[in-house]
Amino acid sequence: MKFGVLVSGRGSNLGALLRHKANGQLPCADFAVVVSNVAGVRALDIAAQAGVPAETVDSRRHPRTPEGRAAHEQEVLARLRAHGVEAVVLAGYMRIVGAQLLGAFPHRILNIHPALLPSFPGLHAQRQALEHGVKVSGCTVHLVDAGCDTGPILLQAAVAVLPDDTEDSLSARILAEEHRVYAIAVDAMSRGRVRVSSDGRRAWIADSDAR
Ligand code: GRF
Repeated sequence: MKFGVLVSGRGSNLGALLRHKANGQLPCADFAVVVSNVAGVRALDIAAQAGVPAETVDSRRHPRTPEGRAAHEQEVLARLRAHGVEAVVLAGYMRIVGAQLLGAFPHRILNIHPALLPSFPGLHAQRQALEHGVKVSGCTVHLVDAGCDTGPILLQAAVAVLPDDTEDSLSARILAEEHRVYAIAVDAMSRGRVRVSSDGRRAWIADSDAR
């Protein structure tokens, strides 16, 4: 299955996926293109170093209006289509996905969030968790829908929140789990093992391949 990866920044999850691929752990996944909405970010270098086409569709070239966002997304979609992409991985992509991408890849867009959803959606999830005082947090891989971090949950991994944690220390502990579980989710998607309930609320990984 051909994947397009959408990024906006650091690219550590992208790097982890590409390392898994290089190690032979994602045999059914092909990373066809990486598209960033921000020019010059580290994620683009990581893609290029791995020999994956790295492209920028700068979202600042469009007005911050519904029409501007739709025009940007149309361009992103065109890049994905040009590379034959069949499924999309959001890896630190700081944009809400709109109707065009959702319509083009139904149940085929994955996101990873650094908290145990539905707790702490949105920005600064690790800080939200610390400020709330939870004792367990983690990360969530989910299918993307029209909301912000609301789509059906595919996988979660938990980590302890320690008394002396800072935002940085908790983020690092969660990030190690992100890098591990995102590969499991992409592998499942690439094998056609992702299932969604008829009401669209629940998602899970089936035991057998089906494409
Ligand atoms: C990760 O914490 C991810 O959960 C969130 O954005 C961050 C991206 O980090 N969606 P990176 O760009 O993959 O290093």
